[in-house]
Amino acid sequence: MRIIAGSARGTNLATVPKGVRPTADRVRESLFNSLGQFFEGGRVLDLYAGTGALGIEALSRGLDRAVFVERDRKVRSVIFENLQRTHLLDEAVIIGGEVETVLGRLEKRGDTFDLIFADPPYRIAAAEVGRILYRLRSLLSPAGRVVIESGEGPVEVAGGRKGVTRRFGGTFITILGRSELTMIVAVCPGSFDPVTTGHLDVIRRASMIFDHVVVAVGANRRKDSRLPAIDRARLIEKVTADVDNVSVEVMEGLLVEFARAQGARAIVKGLRAVSDFESEFEQAQLNRTLFPELETVFIMAAAEHSFLSSSAVREIASLGGEVRGLVPDGILESVRQIYSDKNDKIQGS
Ligand code: PNS
Repeated sequence: MRIIAGSARGTNLATVPKGVRPTADRVRESLFNSLGQFFEGGRVLDLYAGTGALGIEALSRGLDRAVFVERDRKVRSVIFENLQRTHLLDEAVIIGGEVETVLGRLEKRGDTFDLIFADPPYRIAAAEVGRILYRLRSLLSPAGRVVIESGEGPVEVAGGRKGVTRRFGGTFITILGRSELTMIVAVCPGSFDPVTTGHLDVIRRASMIFDHVVVAVGANRRKDSRLPAIDRARLIEKVTADVDNVSVEVMEGLLVEFARAQGARAIVKGLRAVSDFESEFEQAQLNRTLFPELETVFIMAAAEHSFLSSSAVREIASLGGEVRGLVPDGILESVRQIYSDKNDKIQGS
């Protein structure tokens, strides 16, 4: 592999580490040709960077700053070596960690980029791309481009296929502008202690209306919660794994601040009966005072869920009753174990 054009043209890159699938030279060449004359300064973000070839090619062609994100330490050392070989080390930052976590940090810092590459390993492409795409808009400069590489077919952006997709052998490259990443994001908050079939129904129905739904698991709940927020979030992740436009986060602090950080336009809540209304109305009004542009939207619970609550599930499970049908099948055993009284004694909580 070598750099194709620009200041480091012709430089051979280090041997590709095992398990990394680099973008072939000819694909990289065609991709940069498609991007055109875009490279007079600016910043590039190379996610799932692998050898770093895409970000380095962009630096070589005239961008002046690059951030590489790669979770594997050994692979990061290859990026370092490639930057040394191309004399571009001073223009680059290499960050370790999971892409989703790093994106959160970059968003908080208010960083923006003119070019973002997202080339996830093919086996995780669909779900992972769905979870990160909606967040890239806030990191993209107004005239910036996101480039997504996928192996199974053109990437699906909320609202259908968007952008320009080219196929190179078994590789699909999709180039998207900022407007094509415009997504209406909703936050679906709750304690989810545990998530019920009623919650899941509301989350799924919300995912049909909004481009992306972030399920926000409240962490600052009364201390009597049996399960830490992160574990409650994992249960929800398990039962929403098949929905590409749903992600799950733990929420600390105020809901409105969480929603702002996610770029959300709406809060979605389920409403079961008139008895829910008073407290929901109060919360909606308070949240509206704190963040007037954030709309609260209610989805009416299906009739068969109108009696269902997490507290009822907890009580039934703790007394050894049957919770099948009340919680999603995929987490039935976990809920039985976690919320049974026997476990209460073991945990001493
Ligand atoms: O499932 P729940 O217990 O009704 O969920 C309550 C939750 C998490 C939605 C609510 O407590 C919340 O929004 N917490 C975040 C803190 C906050 O913003 N409080 C002010 C809301 S008026």
